[in-house]
This record gives sequence, C-alpha cells and structure tokens, in this order.
Amino acid sequence: MSILVNQQQFHLTNGKISYIFHVLKNGQLGHLYFGKALRERDYRHFQRTNNPTPASCHTYEDDAAFSLETIQQEYPVYGKGDFREPAFMVSGEKPIANFVYKSYEVVKGKPRLKDLPATYATSGEAETLFVVLEDSYQQVELELSYTIFENEAVIARNARLINKTDVEISIDRMMSLSVDLPHADMEMVHLSGTWARERHVKTRKLEQGIQSISSIRGASSHHHNPFLALKTPDATEHTGEVLGFQFVYSGNFLAQAEVDHYDVTRVQMGIHPLGFQWKLRSGESFQTPEALMVYSDQGMNGMSQTFHRLYRHQLIREQWKYKERPILINNWEATYFDFNEEKLLHFAKEAKELGVELFVLDDGWFGKRNNDRSSLGDWTVDLEKLPDGIASLAKKVKSTGLQFGLWFEPEMISPDSHLFREHPEWAIGIPGEHVTLGRNQRVLDYTRAEVVDYIFDRMKAIIEATNLDYIKWDMNRNITEAYSAGLEHQGEFFHRYILGVYDLYERLTSEFPNVLFESCAGGGGRFDPALLYYAPQTWASDDTDAVERLKIQYGTSMAYPIYSMGSHVSAVPNHQTLRETPLSMRADVAYFGTFGYELDPSSLSDEEKEIVKAQIKRYQSLRHLVRDGEFIRLQSPFESNETAWMIVSTDQKEAIVGWYKASSTPNPRTNQSVKLRGLDSDYGYQVDGDTYYGDELMQHGLPLPIEFNGANGEQAERGGDFQSKVFYLKAE
Ligand code: GLA
Repeated sequence: MSILVNQQQFHLTNGKISYIFHVLKNGQLGHLYFGKALRERDYRHFQRTNNPTPASCHTYEDDAAFSLETIQQEYPVYGKGDFREPAFMVSGEKPIANFVYKSYEVVKGKPRLKDLPATYATSGEAETLFVVLEDSYQQVELELSYTIFENEAVIARNARLINKTDVEISIDRMMSLSVDLPHADMEMVHLSGTWARERHVKTRKLEQGIQSISSIRGASSHHHNPFLALKTPDATEHTGEVLGFQFVYSGNFLAQAEVDHYDVTRVQMGIHPLGFQWKLRSGESFQTPEALMVYSDQGMNGMSQTFHRLYRHQLIREQWKYKERPILINNWEATYFDFNEEKLLHFAKEAKELGVELFVLDDGWFGKRNNDRSSLGDWTVDLEKLPDGIASLAKKVKSTGLQFGLWFEPEMISPDSHLFREHPEWAIGIPGEHVTLGRNQRVLDYTRAEVVDYIFDRMKAIIEATNLDYIKWDMNRNITEAYSAGLEHQGEFFHRYILGVYDLYERLTSEFPNVLFESCAGGGGRFDPALLYYAPQTWASDDTDAVERLKIQYGTSMAYPIYSMGSHVSAVPNHQTLRETPLSMRADVAYFGTFGYELDPSSLSDEEKEIVKAQIKRYQSLRHLVRDGEFIRLQSPFESNETAWMIVSTDQKEAIVGWYKASSTPNPRTNQSVKLRGLDSDYGYQVDGDTYYGDELMQHGLPLPIEFNGANGEQAERGGDFQSKVFYLKAE
C-alpha cells in the first residue's frame, strides 16, 4: 500500500486498486482514475478533453480547452462554470466557493472521525492522505481525507470544513464523496423496499440526468439503503467490473449518479442537503460522515465480499468482531404484550431445553405498556406484569443457564407517559403545534444533551441491575415536524439528532463492552454500516417468512456480512404473510445469518421440538463458517423460483450450501444440480456420504436430491412447494 505524490499528482494504490487525482491549473482538484491498480507514472493525460463547443464556452481565463464543465473533478463547487450538482454549497455574503490546493499530509493508519462511527485501521493496515484546500474567496479551509487499506480494494473518504474567517458561514450542502467517472455505460444497482420487504435488489440503466436514492426520514430507512453500485452492463455476479459505494451514516442521506451531456458520471454520497444548513462559527469545523468506495473486477460478489471483509475486520467493534453470537429466542410474536413472570419463565425453561442460549424479552416489560399507546420513555419495570422486578426476572432466567436480553426503544416517548408529562419539551415538534404521530408515539429530542444523559442513566441502571447480556435497540417511527426548541438553527436538527444517537451508543458500548447490541427499526429500517460499528447485528426485517427472507437476506448480502443479519425461525402461518412454510425451510434460510427463534416453544409438538433441537445443534456446528467464511451468492431469488448461496471457509476445507425452491413445478428437469464456487479444485469434498472433487462441484455442480415428477413417488426425495436443503461439505 502506498500513497505516491509526484508533482501534485496523488496516487493511492495497494496492488489491487488505484485512485488518482491531481491539482488542476486553476488550483482545484481534478479526478483522474479509480479502478484496477495501475503502475506508477504521470496520468495527467487522462484529463485531456476536446475543446468545448461554443455552448459550453465557460472556459478558464483564455484557455479554450479548460472548462470545468468538461473536466472530471474531485470535489466540485457551485458557480465556477460546472453546471452539474456540486459537492459543496455555502451561503452567506459570498455564496460561491473556490477551493484551491494548499498542502497535503500522509499519515499511517486511519485517524478516528470526531463523534462519528467509521471504519478503523492500525498503522500497518492503512494509510491516509489529507489534502487541504483553501477557498480563494474567504478563509475557509477544506480538508479532504482518503484512506487506502493494505489488503482491500477500498477507499474511505470524508471531508472537513474549517472556518478560519471571523464570521459565521452556512454550509448548505457538503457531500462525503464526489467522483467523476469517464463514461456512463453502466447500470445502477441499489437496495430498496419498505417495511417487510427491505433491501430488494433493483437495477436500472444510467441515462443522462440524475438517478438518486435518498432518505429524508431521519433514519437511513426501509425504503432505500445508503448503498449503490455501478456495474458495467456485462458484469455478472461473478465477473466484470463493479464500483460499490456505501455511506457510513444512519440519518438523512443522498446517493446519486448524475450523467452529464458528455456521458461523464458523477457519483455523490452524503448527508441529504434538503433541510440541512449548518452554521459554522469562526474557528469551528464541520466533519462529514465517512463514505466508502469499492472496486471489483469479480462482479457483484467480489464487491460484496470486499464490503463483508471490511466490515468484519475494520468496522465491527473489537469486542464482538470475532465472538460467536448467541442463538436467541425472542418472545415478541409468541406473546406480544400479553405476558407475566410465570409465562416468561416457562417460556425460558422450554427454550433452554431446546438448546437456546439467550432469552430476549421484547416490548412491554416497562411502564404500563399493554399496547403500543403508552409508556415509551418510562424505563422502569411494570410491577403488575413482573411483581418481583426486572432484576429478579433476569436472575431467574439466568439461573436456567440462559443469557438475558431486553428490548428498548430509547429514542421514543409516548404522549401517555410519565416522562412526557414531566418533560413535554423533550419531544420533537414546534411547541403548541400539531405533531404527527407514528405508531402512537413521538420522538425524543436527541439534539439535547440532557435527554441523552437521562436515557443513558435509565438504561445503565437496568443493565447493571439485570447484569444484562443483550439489548435490542428499536426505532419504530421516522421523524416528522423536525424541530427542537433547544436549537438555534433548525437546519442542524437532523444531523445533531443522529450525533445524539451515536453519543448514546458510544457511551453504552464503552461502559458495557460485553453487552451485545442488535439494532432494529420496525424491522430493517436502519440497517447501515454506521450502526454496525456499535451493534454488530441488525434485525434484518420483521418479515420472517422463509420465502420473503430469501430476497431480503440476498439483497442485504450485497453490502453487509451475513453474520450481521438477525434471522430467525418464526411460527406459521407467518405473522406477516400468512404463508405456511415447513420448519425445515425456515431454519435452512435463517442459518445464513445470526440465528434465533421468534415463536412460543410450548406451541411446538414433541416431534417439532426434536427438530428444533437438531437445528440448534446444527447451527452451533456451522456458526464459525457464518462468522468467518466467504459468502457467495449463486442463484438469485429475484430472477427465478430457485435460490442458492454458499459459504466457504477461508482455507477452503469446509463449506455450506443453501438451496431453495419456492414453489413446485410440474415434471421438472431430471438432472438437477447447483454449480458451486470458491472451492479448491483438487480437494475431495465429502457431502452426505459421497465424495466429489472441487472441480466437478464447480464445473458440473452438486447433485440435488431427486424431485417428485408426478410418477416417481417411490424414488422422489423432495417435492411440493417450499423445498430447501443445506449441504455441508468437508474436504477429506
Ligand atoms: C418492532 C420490531 C419488532 C418488535 C416490535 C415491538 O416492530 O421490529 O421486532 O420488537 O417493534 O413493539
């Protein structure tokens, strides 16, 4: 890994990728290249453009060949002859900025971002380049930061603005990343959906104009994930060039690809400028969140595996990155709000007998919360349901040998709560004006330090009293009427809110490093890399239907390691779809994530209990692969009725393959198999008593059990709707 600086050309390379830019003749930065590694040399000829045509004649001084309208830029500004969307906008006396190169610095490792979650690296794992630019109109300084990692095809970027003037300025737009790519012959892949169908894979061809995904909900959202990829049209899951972009942030975001009239594609990612305005006083600085860029020449899978490794090794907190996550059972769908101590202890005892490791008590244990109309904010136990208190329940659950976890929704307040009656000003909204409710609740004002302090104290007291092992941190509504009476500038609201959330996470995870956090937002409404930094697993979706989960988990795996996806077996008929899938398929899907159950163990028949015991043992024996192995997508549920994926251990000696068929088809193919990947061609792998070599499994495929065809009842090993099988492969 090295950062080569030569005559104002900056070249970050690690043998896998090169990222190159330079100082233009007007002092601004010009982008030269991002892609597969190139040798060291001068690449300024990459910037050469035709003389602009008369309609684009906004040239620099008297050089007809130099127009910002046609130059690939690094951090474009508004108003200097480039008519594409800028990375930065300022307002005030001089609403135009002109950032001119001033200096650079290279440091080993990766300095932490103040108050923001980000990837991290030791001095041997990464190098960081800081480029400082100065606004020629007023004394503000822009510091662009680029980190290259030793082993991964990733560049991490962020920007910081320092106000060296003696007046206040307003930042109206400040992207974390902007990059101009030389062509537009690409497709944009993104993950979109809504509640119960999060992160479905969507692909569209780039066209002149802006194609964007975004959130202005105060959360990264169910609807669009802060991720996008650009792939060449011929790139597949396993071949071809793909660029992946991901924003390490949990609030309002904008991610867009703008194709201009010369087919240059400008990609930007950052805090959504809508409603954003940050007042920067003299001497202050503003730090953007981090954005990541990945290059893959091995298709979408190559990009995903890079994100997976990066998050596993350089994002998830030290304490949890290599630790096995407990198999949990959650009582939500089993009881909803209707439980008491006796019922819970019976539930826990039965779960323990099945082999479960962690019991999670979900919503309804605090205040007077018998439905979703009250008590958020009152984090004291409901003594009517749990007369001996929460500490006593925790002790009794733990005495069965289970770990104990609790649900919190720390950012919310019910209008019907003691907290609201005492502190109505702690709820977001314009005082005295109508406020829109979401799930009957309002949002706490996390821009106020005293609110974060208060919730921290309440949670700390409960964590200590219960000796808590796990927290499910939920967030069940988005933010409307974004207004804090405690804030001077409302344009800062959304970002300050998220900084408050990160502050609480930071304090809790620092004080209680052994507590496992799982983030959640009405299912998967805030699945983003920033929260993975604190909470190494995220509840992927409230939709636990096995068929739907194939799509959700497949889509989520585009950007996130599967060990970060909470995936549970739930009861049938499924509570979200009313579909009845077999217990075997529900587990076969859930194995490819952090495994658990979301059902009442006493509703299981004796036979089902035996099946569940075996499933738990199976996951325990496979868990190391889910945590450490390379996940490979084989067949997409978005393209056909069949889905397949696999995990291969890093030494290629072990693998698991998940294969699924959602609905039956008449008179199916006779010779069915699934082609595997990532194995060692020369290893002989044992599968269900047979041995196959790696090459035959990858070239011809792993044979699937014989399928029912209407006439082979005796011979058929599978048939009907909802077929699935998980194969375990072990090299001899
Ligand atoms: C959200 C979560 C669920 C459950 C409920 C409790 O919907 O996604 O898993 O915790 O809240 O109210």
